[in-house]
Amino acid sequence: MARIGTDLLLAANLLRKGDLVGIPTETVYGLAGNALDPDALLKIFKVKNRPSFDPLILHIHSFDQLHDISDSIPQPAVELARAYWPGPLTLVLTKKNIVPDVASSGLDTVAVRMPRHSLTRDLLSRLDFPLAAPSANPFGYISPTSAEHVAQQLGDKIPYILDGGPSDVGLESTILGFEGDKPVIYRLGGINLELLEDALGKIRLSVNQSSNPSAPGMLKSHYAPRKPLFTGNIPELMKTYKNKKIAVLSFFKHYAGINNQIVLSENGDLDEAAHKLFEALRKLDQSDCEIIISELFPEKGLGRAINDRLKRASVK
Ligand code: TXA
Ligand code: MG
Repeated sequence: MARIGTDLLLAANLLRKGDLVGIPTETVYGLAGNALDPDALLKIFKVKNRPSFDPLILHIHSFDQLHDISDSIPQPAVELARAYWPGPLTLVLTKKNIVPDVASSGLDTVAVRMPRHSLTRDLLSRLDFPLAAPSANPFGYISPTSAEHVAQQLGDKIPYILDGGPSDVGLESTILGFEGDKPVIYRLGGINLELLEDALGKIRLSVNQSSNPSAPGMLKSHYAPRKPLFTGNIPELMKTYKNKKIAVLSFFKHYAGINNQIVLSENGDLDEAAHKLFEALRKLDQSDCEIIISELFPEKGLGRAINDRLKRASVK
């Protein structure tokens, strides 16, 4: 079973010898390994049971490290990195040969971000390589937002989990790249689209592929609990499924006649709702309900990314 703690020396030593470590980030917990070591990368795919066509994100702590892995960084990307790093923004850039093909699933681009969590920043600064880290969940399941979540699902497969408390943002990073000189968003996430559009103008969203390896990770069925999840109007769904044992997930309203419900933000705050979303889905998934029903959120701020996750997790 993995040990859980805050021992940075131990974590760094394990990573140096090619082992994997669970790491806290401000978005979700990651399953980290040496991004320049193909054997460590293969372990990541194996432990997560992740298809090899779904590339990884590299985590760095400095702009020097960025230039080690990419040598053509478009000016708008430089500006976004200056504005939002460290933070929940991943940039897709042309990769240098030093980045193993396993990391990028054979693409000539690499995804990279500078995470904000202080423990992980400290860890990265002790290492002379970037960390590849997908979310630390079995492929397709809800991402972990605490060390306990990681331990529950991957604890018997990795030696150590760094415990940095609950993830601040609670949703994965926004992924943005460039096609020609046009910015494209590949995954909605922890940075509001509105902020990115203020900086870059209208941005094309390319987030709905069902199983396209050239736009990986955005598989439609993803982030999913094991219990069937239905999204829509809660009173209507309650009627449709009146013979089932229902659990309800809502933004700020309490619904009468349901004892198994989680309200994500009494004050209707989308950031708070995002922060609590994945833990709430896990709790409802582990409860004795037969199905989970959830409303959709306002399409603004982090509400967009919340809706994206709920739709991908839901039964079509
Ligand atoms: O917030 C996050 O980004 C978390 C934390 C741990 O940093 N990581 C994360 O990684 O969500 P993961 O592996 O669950 O999702 C990474 C996704 C891939 O599924 C893929 O969609 C995208 O990043 N990606 C990686 N490389 C790419 C590339 N070269 N082009 C387009 N998309 C890429
Ligand atoms: Mg993931």
